[in-house]
Amino acid sequence: MTLSGPGVDTHPTLFSPGTLRGVATANRTVVSPMTRTSATEEGIVTQQMADYYARYARGGWGLIMTEGTYIDFMYSQGYTFQPGMADEAQQESWRKVVDAVHAEGVPIFMQIFHCGAINQGNYWVEGSIAPSVVQPKGEQIPRYRGGAGGFQVPKEISRDEMAEVVACFGAAARRASEVGFDGVEVHGANGYLPDQFLTVHTNLRDDEYNGPIENRVRFHCDVMQAVRDAVPDKPVGVRISQTKVNDFDYVWPGGDDDAKVVFSKLAETGIDFFDCSAHLGVTPVFGTEHSLSGLARKYSGLPVMANGKLQDPDVAEQALLDGEGDFVSIAKGALADYSWPRKIAANEAPVPFNPGMIMPYATLDCNEAFWAENPSGIPKAAVVARDVAEGA
Ligand SMILES: Cc1cc2nc3c(=O)[nH]c(=O)nc-3n(C[C@H](O)[C@H](O)[C@H](O)COP(=O)(O)O)c2cc1C
Repeated sequence: MTLSGPGVDTHPTLFSPGTLRGVATANRTVVSPMTRTSATEEGIVTQQMADYYARYARGGWGLIMTEGTYIDFMYSQGYTFQPGMADEAQQESWRKVVDAVHAEGVPIFMQIFHCGAINQGNYWVEGSIAPSVVQPKGEQIPRYRGGAGGFQVPKEISRDEMAEVVACFGAAARRASEVGFDGVEVHGANGYLPDQFLTVHTNLRDDEYNGPIENRVRFHCDVMQAVRDAVPDKPVGVRISQTKVNDFDYVWPGGDDDAKVVFSKLAETGIDFFDCSAHLGVTPVFGTEHSLSGLARKYSGLPVMANGKLQDPDVAEQALLDGEGDFVSIAKGALADYSWPRKIAANEAPVPFNPGMIMPYATLDCNEAFWAENPSGIPKAAVVARDVAEGA
């Protein structure tokens, strides 16, 4: 829906219409993917989830990205009560989400996901797989339920298993397209399976998937080629980051040279967009004048979603004007106020994020309980938790 109001006049780029391979967006705001662990144990989407996504659509967002959704009944699920896209039953359960969002005239893309070693809850199989036998840094994340303490040690994924995972990414993308999603994003960021190939300390392989950056981005490229082939007629893209849910400090060792290879090699697979997540904010990297999303734009020539602390509309507008992105993707600001775009357009203050909104769990039930207790959205005592503040 096209918004109007004084905030539109002061943020003309943010509220200008956009397009991604023919999918029109009313403005440049995107709901960033957010895991809510609110499906059934078997990964079936509930009516509560459809109501949740429809609220964003009514709130004036240009585009909605779903939460990370697992692709097979093997090792891809990372969180208990995570939704899946691994068979027809899971696929069909998404239809009510797509229909509810489309009823408001807003496009919705699905984010597809493989956890790799970052597994804290899988309903289907025991164990986890990763490029190499390396225990992930850090601890499981309490707000996503499931286990506690350190992560289990993964087994090394075989070449046959890699081919199967690539095929399952393609199959999940095709299912998403068939059920009506307007586009598909692969979660290639934040420390999950594809990112484990990109990252030097989690990839110790002795085959052509390790070594120089051209090799470490090969798995991402295999996945994106499969997704492109499975969905030839709708936008497909990939999320990329340096930081991880379990490691906020990781920096690409090759800096700008790595960025050039990652973004240009992935663009060669024929994808339509990048989504660059930077939990710590869209700031210049590697001594260049650009953020990671700006470098993605520069080296790929493709549209890019910038993400990370962009809930201040002046900052978001400036990021677009500076060429750091073509869209801004907002997570915690969206979760705090489903109507963020409408409020900004009307020059009203959106409800600010408070960690209590996703405590003790990032579920829709806990969020609803928060609102029941705190009708203004501002609790009497703010809950403080570092990992919540940094995102996932
Ligand atoms: C509750 C929660 C769940 C998240 N789940 C996902 C996810 O499923 N996929 C993903 O790519 N990022 C996920 N993230 C990360 C956000 O999409 C975003 O990159 C991060 O929060 C930084 O953006 P922000 O500053 O606008 O919050 C999650 C963040 C939060 C707060």
